[in-house]
Amino acid sequence: MPCHSVGNIGAMPLTTYKEVSAYGRMIAHVTQSKIMPPWKDDPQFASIKHNNKLNEHEIALIKQWVDSGMAKGQLIKNKGLTPPEKNPTITKPDLVYAMSQPYHQIGDYNHRNMVFVIPTKLSEDVFADEIEFVPGNKKIVKSCTISIDTGDSSTLFDSYDLNYGYRSFSALSFIPHQYAWYQWNADSKTIFKSDTYVKKIPAGSKLLFHITYVASTSIQKDSSYVKIHLSQNMSGKKEINSQVLFNQANITNGPFIIKVDEQKKFYAKVKLDHAIEIQSIMPMGQYACSSWEFYAIDSISRNRINILSIPKWDANWKKKYELQKTLQLSKGSEIFAIATYDNSDENINLIILPPQKIKYGEGSRDELFLVVYDFVNYE
Ligand code: HEM
Repeated sequence: MPCHSVGNIGAMPLTTYKEVSAYGRMIAHVTQSKIMPPWKDDPQFASIKHNNKLNEHEIALIKQWVDSGMAKGQLIKNKGLTPPEKNPTITKPDLVYAMSQPYHQIGDYNHRNMVFVIPTKLSEDVFADEIEFVPGNKKIVKSCTISIDTGDSSTLFDSYDLNYGYRSFSALSFIPHQYAWYQWNADSKTIFKSDTYVKKIPAGSKLLFHITYVASTSIQKDSSYVKIHLSQNMSGKKEINSQVLFNQANITNGPFIIKVDEQKKFYAKVKLDHAIEIQSIMPMGQYACSSWEFYAIDSISRNRINILSIPKWDANWKKKYELQKTLQLSKGSEIFAIATYDNSDENINLIILPPQKIKYGEGSRDELFLVVYDFVNYE
């Protein structure tokens, strides 16, 4: 369990019998209540890549083991446990972009979302076929979502904060040219590598490292960087775009207002004006948000295709959900989103108490209906 190994983000190491049995009751509780592992998508609804999840049988087995006194079993080295396929680390990067100075996290036990703006200084567009983020401090770096800005918005937001980088409560405070262009998580440690697909880095652009730091009780420093290998031959390569799929404008039952004590469902729809291939989807909601569901109706087959369902949303664990099998949709197909919000005392995740009227926005008192996705265009 990469997250719960020594020196990683997990609250405690869980790698030996001694460590696991010391937290047995807590492990039974967090797995029964689906707090851990943290990814909350429904595997029956659609299958997702890199999904560190437990099935119902495994959850019941953990509980049974704990209730029966946590017997120490026989140590069987890696029996049948094949580590997940992982792309090899990039040994000869063409480009390396690093934070220009260390970020200092004070030990006040608060999670933080920070954005670091890194100019690419490129004089021409380039295309990456391998991308690898390397966290400087594995103890606190929970995830890094890299976006690309071709304008000056990120520099402007950066200038408002005298410290290095700028704080963001949830999203980036503006819509960048490429949104969530690449993402790294502490458990999947994804390295993008493809012989078919490439990702563009425009000339003169800036990389935005949007890093989520877990809470720490001691002062911590982080200097993270990304390694990039460039495609030498573009023939036959397909470019992946990372854009907004849904935001407030696509909602069909607006306005986006959630009254006090209200439990509300919002629906949205997008009609495709050309054929696409969807690779991943990343919903972004805050603490009043309680669930997401996405599906599509293909314009030719008229079939309904489930894309992703997150029945119990957790704003502390946002990620790009990579589809197990990419989804090709014809021109004229429709993609649907349904999100529910609970602005009542029943919602234990609410951070603004007593509940207040909620409007659309990125502030801590606001809520979001923002979804980004990776796709390839078929004109
Ligand atoms: C079967 C799998 C897992 C088990 C049994 C497990 C168990 C636990 C337990 C017992 C806690 C302490 C909860 C508390 O203090 O209330 C915890 C916290 C935590 N775990 Fe896990 N965990 C699992 C998977 C993961 C994975 C895959 C990740 C990383 C992606 C992760 C990251 C964390 C983090 C960051 C915390 C600190 C609390 C937080 O920030 O939410 N765990 N886990």
